[in-house]
Amino acid sequence: MAENIRNIAVLTSGGDAPGMNAAIRAVVRACSFYKLDCTGVYRGYQGLIEADFEKLDARSVRNIINKGGTFLKSTRSMEFKTKKGRKKAYDNLVANNVDALVVIGGDGTFTGGQLFSQEHNFPIVGIPATIDNDINGTDFTLGYDTALNTVVEAIDKIRDTASSHNRLFLVEVMGRDAGDIALNSGIGAGAEEILIPEENLGAERLIDSLRKSKKSGKTSSIIVVAEGEKSGKNIFELAKFIEENLDEYEIRVSVLGHIQRGGSPSCFDRVLASKLGVGAVEALMKGKSEIMVGIHHQKVVHVDLEIAIKDDAKIDNELRRVADITSV
Ligand code: F6P
Repeated sequence: MAENIRNIAVLTSGGDAPGMNAAIRAVVRACSFYKLDCTGVYRGYQGLIEADFEKLDARSVRNIINKGGTFLKSTRSMEFKTKKGRKKAYDNLVANNVDALVVIGGDGTFTGGQLFSQEHNFPIVGIPATIDNDINGTDFTLGYDTALNTVVEAIDKIRDTASSHNRLFLVEVMGRDAGDIALNSGIGAGAEEILIPEENLGAERLIDSLRKSKKSGKTSSIIVVAEGEKSGKNIFELAKFIEENLDEYEIRVSVLGHIQRGGSPSCFDRVLASKLGVGAVEALMKGKSEIMVGIHHQKVVHVDLEIAIKDDAKIDNELRRVADITSV
């Protein structure tokens, strides 16, 4: 047991994700269970720099397990990217007798956390939370399951119009660098085509494929497009390109946007948040630092932050194969 850990601070940073509140709750309650103090930091790393702190106890986090967003608020702090900003943050933590930090967020959050920990020899544990599911070493990130369900529900509704009017819909989903949302929601919602950032199959191939489907008797279609897909055309240009090369379909574009980040977390995300929140506090108590607590084969695992933020996105070839077979 690390005797020097008596007060743990917790913050959320970067894009919000459903399940962040449930994770804060689990961190606070684990601290209370183990008789440690817990300090909430508002507005992510910017709140560290401005000492925007509040003591939290088990009752401070009641009725939040079901809430989307993050009650601690979130920012992408530019000041924390500077050495001076990080030094201010460190001084505030020391002045408030904080011994360790749990950071809940994605790769940007982990990159900042790792730098801070190295510079000031300050214990940090990360909890992966981003709807994009683009963190290495964890099977799932917080918010991803909820976002998938939101997307599938939205596409199901779009499908009603697509089939009633024999239309082709291009639906844009989030995923600047990762195709996980597009690929999984595309399969779950029965999409005809799925375009993801990890591969560029070319706009011509898309036309060929749509032509074949039309011939095979399809009357309407849904194409799921990840926002970071690499055809070089944005979704409206892609729609125009299809229209110019294929006059069989009436085309519409639907950009789902930030509805994907909001809403009450799914049960899966709440349980995951609870496991990871408890896991983060227990890791700090064991003297761990510069790690992320992730989930692998349903077990909480410790992954070096350096590995977690490594940018080596791969596509799941099995999912791609299933998508191709089920869309014939
Ligand atoms: O949360 C990750 C993400 O959803 C990305 O896929 C997307 O590009 C980005 O957030 C947009 O975030 P914001 O509008 O907050 O800049």
